[in-house]
Amino acid sequence: MEKLRRLVSQIATTPPSQRLSNLSSLQFSLIPLLSFASSVYSFALYIRHRLYHFSIFRQHRLPVPVISVGNLTWGGNGKTPMVEYIARWLLDFGISPLILTRGYGGADEAKMLQRHLLGTSAKVGVGANRAATAATILERYGCINLCGSTCSGRPFFSKETQTASYSDKIGVAILDDGMQHLRLWRDLEIVMVNGMMPWGNNQLLPLGPLREPLAALGRADVVVVHHADLVAEENIEAILSTVWKVNNSLPVFFSKMAPSYFIKAAKTSCVISLRAVYDAIVLCVSAIGFAESFVQTILKMGPKHVDRLDFSDHHLFQTKDINVIRIRLKELESEFAVQPIVVVTEKDYDRAPEVLKDLNPYQVLVLCSRLQIVPYKGCTEDSFKKFLRQHLEISSASYIT
Ligand SMILES: *[C@@H]1O[C@H](CO)[C@@H](O)[C@H](O)[C@H]1NC(C)=O
Ligand SMILES: *[C@@H]1O[C@H](CO)[C@@H](O)[C@H](O)[C@H]1NC(C)=O
Repeated sequence: MEKLRRLVSQIATTPPSQRLSNLSSLQFSLIPLLSFASSVYSFALYIRHRLYHFSIFRQHRLPVPVISVGNLTWGGNGKTPMVEYIARWLLDFGISPLILTRGYGGADEAKMLQRHLLGTSAKVGVGANRAATAATILERYGCINLCGSTCSGRPFFSKETQTASYSDKIGVAILDDGMQHLRLWRDLEIVMVNGMMPWGNNQLLPLGPLREPLAALGRADVVVVHHADLVAEENIEAILSTVWKVNNSLPVFFSKMAPSYFIKAAKTSCVISLRAVYDAIVLCVSAIGFAESFVQTILKMGPKHVDRLDFSDHHLFQTKDINVIRIRLKELESEFAVQPIVVVTEKDYDRAPEVLKDLNPYQVLVLCSRLQIVPYKGCTEDSFKKFLRQHLEISSASYIT
C-alpha cells in the first residue's frame, strides 16, 4: 500500500512533459485509471459547489468573522504556520482567536499550534465537524463584536485598542484547511501555494495533487506563495501568471519560514534563544525531506562544529536509532571534550516525542520556526497586515447583533 502510494504521488508531482523520462511502465499503466478517477472526483466537486451556490446546501454562519486558510495541493504550503501568524496578529490587537482545525494525522499540527500559542488567549478547537467544535467553544467563552467599538466611533483596530486588556471572548475564527470545508461561511479566503511545487502535474486527485481545479483560485481573496525564499525569480513569475490568469486583480503575497527559538524536548514549555548553539558542538538529527536546509539554518547560528544524522523522510525513530545517535554523541564528546547538543526539527519531535526525550544526559533542543511575509515588488508585511485589517473591518460590520 505504502509502495503504491509512493508510485501515485510521484505521478502527481511529475509534470506531463517529464513523464517519459521520470516514470516507470507500471506508473504509465496506472495513468488511465487515475485519469478516470480524477474525472469522477471533478464531477462530484462540481455538483457539490453548485449545491452550495444555489443554497440547496446551507452554509453555517458563526457569530464572529471567519478567516479561512486553505490549500489546493498537499504538503509544504505553510497553511498551519499562516494560521499561527494570523492568530498572533489578532492577539497583538487584544483579540482572542478561535482556531478550528480538523486534526488529521494524529493531530500533530494541532499539537504544534497549541504549544506555540501556549499562554496566549488563543483557543484551538480540534474536530472534523468544525461548526460543532466552534459552537462548543463559543458557548464556553462567549464572543465579542469587533464592530461594537466601531459603532461608537472608535474602530476596533485602532492604536488605543492595541494595548487593550485581553478578553477570553472570541473575536475571530480561523479555519485551518478551510478551502474545501464549504459548510462554514467565511469572510476571507486565504489560499496558500507551495512555491517549490505549486501545482504538480496540474491534475486533480488522484492523478495529480490538486484537490480542486486551478479555477478554484477564483474563490480566493488573497494568495500567499510560501517558501518564496527558496524559489527562483522566474518560477515566482510563472506562479504569478498562473494565478492572474484566473483573476488578474487577485492580491498575491510571499512568505518563508524563519527560525525563531528552541524548546527543550524534555520540557517543551521551556523556550531557549537561538544563541544556545553559538560556539557549541551540535548534532543535527532529522527525518525530513530537506535535511540540507535544516543543517544550513543551524550553521548560520554560529556553532563551533556541526555534525548530522539524516534519516529518510517520515522515518519513525526507534530505540535502535537512539543507540546510533548515542554512539555518535559519544564520539563527538571525546573528540571535542565538551558535551554536544542534539538539535531536531519540530516535525521530528512531534513524530516521536517520547523517544527523543530519552537521550539523557545530552540536551535535545527542538527548532521552532515562524512564518514571515517577505517583501516582493512592493508587497510587504505591512501591506499584508493592512489588507487583513481592511477586510476584517468591512466584514465585522455585518456581525452587529
Ligand atoms: C492540504 O491538502 C491535503 C489534502 O490533499 C490535506 O490533507 C492537508 O491537510 C492540507 N494541508 C497541507 C499542509 O498539506
Ligand atoms: C478578483 O479578485 C478581486 C480581489 O479579491 C475581487 O474583488 C474580484 O471580484 C475578483 N474577480 C472575479 C471575476 O472573481
